[in-house]
Amino acid sequence: MLGLTERMDKELAGAFEKAGYDPALGKAVVSNRPDLCEYQCNGAMAGAKAYKKAPFMIAEDVKAQLSDTAVFSSVEVVKPGFLNLKVDEGFLADFLQEMDGDERLGARKAEKPETILLDYGGPNVAKPLHVGHLRSAIIGESLKRLGRFAGHRMIGDIHMGDWGLQMGLIITELRHRKPELCYFDDSFNGEYPAEAPFTISELEEIYPTASAKSKEDEAYKNEALEATGLLQQGKAGYMALWKQIMKVSVADLKKNYEKLNVSFDLWKAESDAQPYIPDMVEYMKNEGFAYEDQGALVVDVKQEDDTKEIPPCMLLKSDGASLYTTTDLATIVERMDDYDPDEILYVVDKRQELHFEQVFRCARKTGLVKKDTKLTFLGFGTMNGKDGKPFKTREGGVMRLENLIADINEEMFRKIVENRSVKDKEAEETARIVGLSAIKYGDLSNQATKDYIFDVDRFTSFEGNTGPYILYTIVRIKSILNRFCEEGGDLTGGRILPAQNASEKNLMLQLSGFGNAAIGAFEEKAPHRLCAYIYDVANAFNSFYHETKILGEEDASRKQSLIHVLILTRKVLENCIDLLGFSAPDRM
Ligand code: ARG
Repeated sequence: MLGLTERMDKELAGAFEKAGYDPALGKAVVSNRPDLCEYQCNGAMAGAKAYKKAPFMIAEDVKAQLSDTAVFSSVEVVKPGFLNLKVDEGFLADFLQEMDGDERLGARKAEKPETILLDYGGPNVAKPLHVGHLRSAIIGESLKRLGRFAGHRMIGDIHMGDWGLQMGLIITELRHRKPELCYFDDSFNGEYPAEAPFTISELEEIYPTASAKSKEDEAYKNEALEATGLLQQGKAGYMALWKQIMKVSVADLKKNYEKLNVSFDLWKAESDAQPYIPDMVEYMKNEGFAYEDQGALVVDVKQEDDTKEIPPCMLLKSDGASLYTTTDLATIVERMDDYDPDEILYVVDKRQELHFEQVFRCARKTGLVKKDTKLTFLGFGTMNGKDGKPFKTREGGVMRLENLIADINEEMFRKIVENRSVKDKEAEETARIVGLSAIKYGDLSNQATKDYIFDVDRFTSFEGNTGPYILYTIVRIKSILNRFCEEGGDLTGGRILPAQNASEKNLMLQLSGFGNAAIGAFEEKAPHRLCAYIYDVANAFNSFYHETKILGEEDASRKQSLIHVLILTRKVLENCIDLLGFSAPDRM
């Protein structure tokens, strides 16, 4: 179905054409003077030059063609040539009625569906998830859902870090602790044990210990570097150990992402790109792209118009080991082979921008991707504490994601039981749902590229621009609808009638904007736009609610219409939060 603005555009285009002007000038945009009108059309100004005519006169001509319009209740020309528009209440009601019956709630679908590979999450195995990985997961999950809703084929890949120095460090530390393990016995040719020689908590302790040692002990570090190289070359014992590390870590990661309501279509890792590396390196050498520089193999990626220095892209270190750039380039080869995507979109900390600039340039220059394959870096800002510095624990250490979630849930639980006497079990579950909304909305409502302050008090508040406020609004609607049903009401009867006052009309206008908000948020890769939209809807609903008798309405068909508006508001809000990656409880 056509959206509300598209319908207005059609009406305006017809009027411009009938008045003898280019129909393309007929476009409605949301008014920047909401005190004067709801929408406006600036086409007369845009056309003034071409028609050598005062915009005011063009606008008057167009207005004359709209004298019997059913779309607008008022059309006014104001200097220098704006057309100020108000939407006809009957037209709006009919639109919402149609929207209510449409499973996409009036949102258009992409004309050209694309295959988009979304690289997000990016945890490093054997290292605990920390808050830095939170943003990638939250933003990525939302973009995946928004893209899918827009009609694209979204393939979400977690792209785990499992092929770098941290693996060599873990192997080295294990060898120091348990040298007797068969993984370290070069003459071993039996079958490696099915059980891992460590638990997840041991593993999580091993990595930081090893990392700290390597910073102080040069020999230890060299051992770890060598182990990394041997692993990358496929040394049997190390590969078997690596598999165990992966098994234990992945199970733990799955559990954690599930708690965040984040899921991936592909659980691929850097190591999956390894088989593509030798051929890729050969190719880059043979084609003359790669050359040796101080023992390392590099590809130049600087361009004439660079304003800052872009260093060459390193393919192999002097010891032949691959690097972060190598696995990322080979992963591009793998992805092109497997999915031939129209776009690969990376949701990664913006501090990695240079790395991706190098990788993208190298991939283009060497033809790893097609000319029209888009490579996009969505770099997100840092999540800071109230002191404006990267979010830390109270003790100043790196905050583990699990702990952050637990803290929020605890705070939410406190607020929920303080509000009313809900049974503990239910309150815990509710706190979990509302807590997730606090975290996700708190993050997504900020423009992704900007740093933001993670403020537990503000994010968990039931008032203001927060997740809990949105959920509270949904729960309020659910409870009115429940009461309506308990009183014998029928949710399916009647239809939406023209608004009778300003707050009702405002809510209806807000609801009609769902399609543009949801699709626009994806096109601009900007979930914060959808957050801004639902905040407006929630506010419009709450003013409407405070000004309108709903269950007490005596006119039966009007009451039924109000109930319909409520149902549609709930649908719009629920669809939006689903696109953002969280859900609402039944009560709070
Ligand atoms: N594992 C990386 C990190 O923790 C993020 C991976 C991002 N994706 C990528 N294709 N490089 O920094």
